[in-house]
Amino acid sequence: MFALPHLDLPPLRAAAGRVRLPGSKSISNRVLLLAGLAEGVTEIRDLLDSDDTRVMLAALRALGCGLERAGPVLRVKGLGGRLPVREADLFLGNAGTAMRPLTAALAVLAATQGGAFTLRGVPRMHERPIGDLVDALRPLGCTIDELGTPGYPPLRLRGQAGGRLALAAPIRVRGDVSSQFLTALLLALPLAALDTPVVIEVQGELISKPYVEITLALLARFGITVQREGFARFTIPQGSRYRTPDIVHVEGDASSASYFVALGAIAAVDAPLVIEGVGSDSIQGDIAFVDAARAMGAQVQARPNALEVRRGRWPLQAIALDCNAIPDAAMTLAVMALYAQGTTRLSGIASWRVKETDRIAAMAAELAKLGAQVDSGADFIAVTPPARWHAATLGTYDDHRMAMCLSLAAFNPLAGALPPVPIRIEDPACVAKTFPDYFETLLALVRAAPAEVPVITVDGPSASGKGTLAAALARRLGWHFLDSGAVYRATALAAVRAGVALADEAALARVAAGLDLHFDGDRILLAGEDVSDELRREDTGALASRVAALPAVRQALHALQLSLRRAPGLVADGRDMGTAIFPQAPLKVFLTASAAERARRRHKQLISKGIEANIADLLADIEARDARDRSRSASPLRAAEDALQLDNSQQGVDESVDTVLQWWRQRNPLDEGR
Ligand code: C5P
Repeated sequence: MFALPHLDLPPLRAAAGRVRLPGSKSISNRVLLLAGLAEGVTEIRDLLDSDDTRVMLAALRALGCGLERAGPVLRVKGLGGRLPVREADLFLGNAGTAMRPLTAALAVLAATQGGAFTLRGVPRMHERPIGDLVDALRPLGCTIDELGTPGYPPLRLRGQAGGRLALAAPIRVRGDVSSQFLTALLLALPLAALDTPVVIEVQGELISKPYVEITLALLARFGITVQREGFARFTIPQGSRYRTPDIVHVEGDASSASYFVALGAIAAVDAPLVIEGVGSDSIQGDIAFVDAARAMGAQVQARPNALEVRRGRWPLQAIALDCNAIPDAAMTLAVMALYAQGTTRLSGIASWRVKETDRIAAMAAELAKLGAQVDSGADFIAVTPPARWHAATLGTYDDHRMAMCLSLAAFNPLAGALPPVPIRIEDPACVAKTFPDYFETLLALVRAAPAEVPVITVDGPSASGKGTLAAALARRLGWHFLDSGAVYRATALAAVRAGVALADEAALARVAAGLDLHFDGDRILLAGEDVSDELRREDTGALASRVAALPAVRQALHALQLSLRRAPGLVADGRDMGTAIFPQAPLKVFLTASAAERARRRHKQLISKGIEANIADLLADIEARDARDRSRSASPLRAAEDALQLDNSQQGVDESVDTVLQWWRQRNPLDEGR
């Protein structure tokens, strides 16, 4: 996950491949609550693992549910409608799908079985309305204290054992602010329907109807068949009780699918994008986003559990759409509008204002930064693409969907942006709410023009600390890391294993060209085998230095190294990164330290690994290797003319990292020379 203050995306030009969606948030949290209230054990498969489900799980655990994880499966032992815990203080983050249903369920349980429960969240949660739900519950006899601003969390739900609920009259709830209030009542009131039917009437026009359909479908899976008159009146039959379906599969998240459908519509230019986990069988309303995307030009083939998307019409077609039924996915349309001809007008989105942030205001502000013309009102937004794109730092408002949507603005070259612009996504980790590895998933699918992907080269002699510095830089920037020394070491190792003589240049070049090498985080895999430790050995390094002197070997490894220049950026360390491999890199660093200091560091490193070593020998070895690297005819070790020299003899790693990051900021258009 990108736990960075911000992530810079270079201009992107194409996307293709296969993506497996994380589980649906709406389904996950509903299933968790139902399993928690039901009698018996429910096995939940493919549950979403995110901030919002984590707070729900913590709440269920605090309320006495048994939770047991076995790989991808979660077993929930439900309460069977009885409260073993009568007091709890529950923190629900910014999860509306936990706050609203738990309020209803605990209000009902406290009123009948006795107890006191406090429900709170992050500051934004305390700005998200819940008054309509409180107003619906109080006439039943539920005692609800509003601990902060009336109509908003935090709330305390109290009651005495033996209390009875007034269920003779229909329960009235407003439906025009959030459908989650109705969903909360539908999920909770089967708790009270053992001896009497329970009738719920919706006042005002219900918004986000498809989410209520999800609720009804899942209630049915748990044995409760709600009778309904459209979306106006719902009856939970007398004698209803939750029965576990034993096993529940959580579908992939259809709202999350929208980013990839849009990605395909914008950027799947030569191969399709296949999205697994949702499809034509989905019970999620946001699957209707597919029709809206089609109207804008996407070519989508829907299978029961998958979607295959390609670019169709280009540029996209502007649309005018009432998005009441797809409020979350509609945000993605606002960003697709950047690639459309004309003005896209999305209406029926008043609910955006009470979500994780005021999404209308947020979207309007951020799209305008890119150069789009945006008009907005109480319940609509209208977007006209930029005439001129601007490189922009895009705020995400602690809103996962803002971050995921805005990432799609990086494809501006496809809209003809001249020049193509990079974008900065602030606080990318906010996607953890529903899609913790969204950016990794996105970046694995995209293609950039190599020249537009930033590279920082770090060259220098053996044991100068390049590797440590470069790896730390890559971590701080969220970029890929090329340890080119490891490429030469792996070539030497592969040659030894294949019994190739070190004098046979042509055979060594063939080994290099066929190298099956993968960088997997901290591990380096040669033909699938983890060889990280073997590569680090001194004898492997010495062999590498000999192999590396051969021009044919260097030539054979050139393309492999270039291919690692991928979005969002690359930090490359070696001897000739700035001179031969990435001569156009926007920032080149040449790292030095005295040979004595380097010998001392290598000694310390070896001793700490329990390897015996002697400083004098190491110094001789380092000096010999320096001499060989400098004097060889093929790519001798030297600083590029435009490299910045960094002598770290007296510096710790953190200090060196800060120096280089400062240099990078001076060159990064998104930092404007800061
Ligand atoms: O940096 P490291 O010690 O892992 O590199 C091993 C050997 O590979 C070096 O001694 C050097 O001869 C060679 N090398 C190179 N060009 C690079 C990186 C390493 O010639 N870009």
